[in-house]
Amino acid sequence: MRRILVTSALPNANGAIHLGHLFEHIQTDIWVRFQRMMGNECYYVCADDAHGTATMLAAERLGTTPEAMIESLREEHADDFRRFHVEHDNYYSTHSPENEHFTGTIYERLAADDRTFTADVEQLYDPERKLFLADRFVKGNCPRCGHDDQYGDNCQECGATYDATELGNPRSLLSDATPELRSSKHYFFDLAQFTDFLKDWTATEAVQTEVTNKLAEWLTGGLKAWDISRDGPYFGFTIPGTTEKYFYVWMDAPVGYMASFKNLCDRTGGLDFEDFWRSDSEAEVHHFIGKDIINFHCLFWPAVLRGAGYRTPTKVHTHGFITVDGVQMSKSRGTFINAGTYLEHLDPEYLRYYFATKLAANTDDVDIQLDDFVQRVNSDLVGKVVNIASRCAGFIHRGFDGVLGAKVHDVELWTAVSDARHELADLYERGDVGRAVRQITALADRTNQYIAEYEPWKHVNDPDRADEVQGVCSLGINVFRALVIYLKPILPAMAAKAETFLQVEPLAWEDAGAPLVAHEIHRFKALFTRIDRKDVDKVVAATVAEAETEAGNGAEEHSQHVSIDEFGKIDLRVAKVLAANFVDGADKLIELRLDLGVSQRTVFAGVREAYDPTSLVDRLVVVVANLAPRKMRFGTSEGMVLAAGPGGEDIFLVSPDSGAEPGMRVT
Ligand code: MSP
Ligand code: ZN
Repeated sequence: MRRILVTSALPNANGAIHLGHLFEHIQTDIWVRFQRMMGNECYYVCADDAHGTATMLAAERLGTTPEAMIESLREEHADDFRRFHVEHDNYYSTHSPENEHFTGTIYERLAADDRTFTADVEQLYDPERKLFLADRFVKGNCPRCGHDDQYGDNCQECGATYDATELGNPRSLLSDATPELRSSKHYFFDLAQFTDFLKDWTATEAVQTEVTNKLAEWLTGGLKAWDISRDGPYFGFTIPGTTEKYFYVWMDAPVGYMASFKNLCDRTGGLDFEDFWRSDSEAEVHHFIGKDIINFHCLFWPAVLRGAGYRTPTKVHTHGFITVDGVQMSKSRGTFINAGTYLEHLDPEYLRYYFATKLAANTDDVDIQLDDFVQRVNSDLVGKVVNIASRCAGFIHRGFDGVLGAKVHDVELWTAVSDARHELADLYERGDVGRAVRQITALADRTNQYIAEYEPWKHVNDPDRADEVQGVCSLGINVFRALVIYLKPILPAMAAKAETFLQVEPLAWEDAGAPLVAHEIHRFKALFTRIDRKDVDKVVAATVAEAETEAGNGAEEHSQHVSIDEFGKIDLRVAKVLAANFVDGADKLIELRLDLGVSQRTVFAGVREAYDPTSLVDRLVVVVANLAPRKMRFGTSEGMVLAAGPGGEDIFLVSPDSGAEPGMRVT
């Protein structure tokens, strides 16, 4: 039995789970479920990637703390995955004590071995916001072609890549201020020391051939030291021995794999962290990632692990990027689809199945076509596989009390289906799942032809042919059972329904080795319904609508008109502050208890820097009364209080004139 730890890349804690993340987690989950069906001991951990400047700024915009924001996103992400039947054993956060411990330990070991050094770095600094500007927070003129409005790392116009300090007329996107050049001390990981190790490691089975080739470009070009520190203010872990230096988010992010597993070990007991991570571990570690983050997983991460005395990954499985109908996912086209939006209209297993048909062991991009999606599910899965069971089960009940025949009617067909388990297992193991699905569909085709040849529907009332009808339909059911086994890693919910129908224990891979004989089955109930194309259109339309709302909220977008009807959907009410209190652990929030006339509410408002809570009691405010409640770490906010201004000390509550009564509608 193999012992295997599996991970998917940690989604950033700054937005919703979308099709791209789902593609990766569904791929990983299929592999994990397959390993478990083979009888291997397999753990699947993940986490949200919580740190970085982006998290800090997003929380500021929302008037909340990074801690509160990442925790509510973590819960939302974990829930989205669960609803897609992605079964992480642990969905943790990189902002955890375990992660701080391991990141610190790893750094100290590297430093003790002279794998790190410090050097001064000149960077653009925003004097108003008082922070160093990451490349995506600064724009200016391209140093090569002179085009304006280009980000700090590369030019959209001419494709040049450069250093942010080279931009002409730079401006900070955070404050519009002109950045200054400032120098500060940075910490570096001396990656070049690991060149020989990495040349060997990247040439092994640990990475796909195309990835080996891609990495060879970097390896032969000479590896640069990796800047692993950022100056404060930053949301992250401080570097041991410093106060204002933080680990760069990409330093602690992969360590998050270890931390999530450690947390799982501690929670469940009986699992030994070191068994999986010590340098001579015999367990396997598999990472699933997208091709945009190969350098982090196939250069930095193995080198860091090696340098710190841990084992290196058994295999990094890299996939390509998803495009929809031939182009990048786009909000305005309605193809940048979020998990939650999809689930409002469609069954998660449709997507699992369709993604499975697209999975290969290479890193090619994967095009999702909405028509093809409907077609594959309806004609292959429902029309071919499920069809076998729905065709055969009725006759088994009509003529034979629901009992399958005692003999296999066509040994050749059964042997072909049963023996396929060996090759299909190889395909799953390699990640060639699309090919596996095509072979499964071909077996379904062959079986449907076989059933059509014997036409059991014609002979079901002929006593002379009873054995034949029972034999053909029983074999049909047995093939169906084998195909359910082969599809079970992809379609766990459908397999569970099929197990009930077949009256069998949860199916394992080897169960395809022998047929069910003289066994009673349930009556057939629909296992899977066809996709209605209209529901796909609804998902697309809902995504477009989300994009429009977001554009309306975006500060960079020009304000758009809203109709009086749209405005009317927002229920604004006068409310009176009954009580106002500080919130422990949230230095920007005040908790307000509000009287809305007919009801009372609790609302968290980001006004603590501007108001003393006691000064707020008894005053009137305006509340968005029908805002969806938002769960925060401190409690649920049941609405939003209107205020004007950029935030911090400059925030001004909107209040009705005296005479207004709590509960009055604001129009
Ligand atoms: N936080 C980092 C990963 C840290 S792992 C120690 C990150 N996050 S991400 O949210 O941007 O992406 C998470 C994963 O989703 C990555 O593997 C990325 O390749 C994958 N995808 C994001 N968009 C994608 C597509 N459109 N298509 C396929 N996968 C894509 O990177
Ligand atoms: Zn340019």
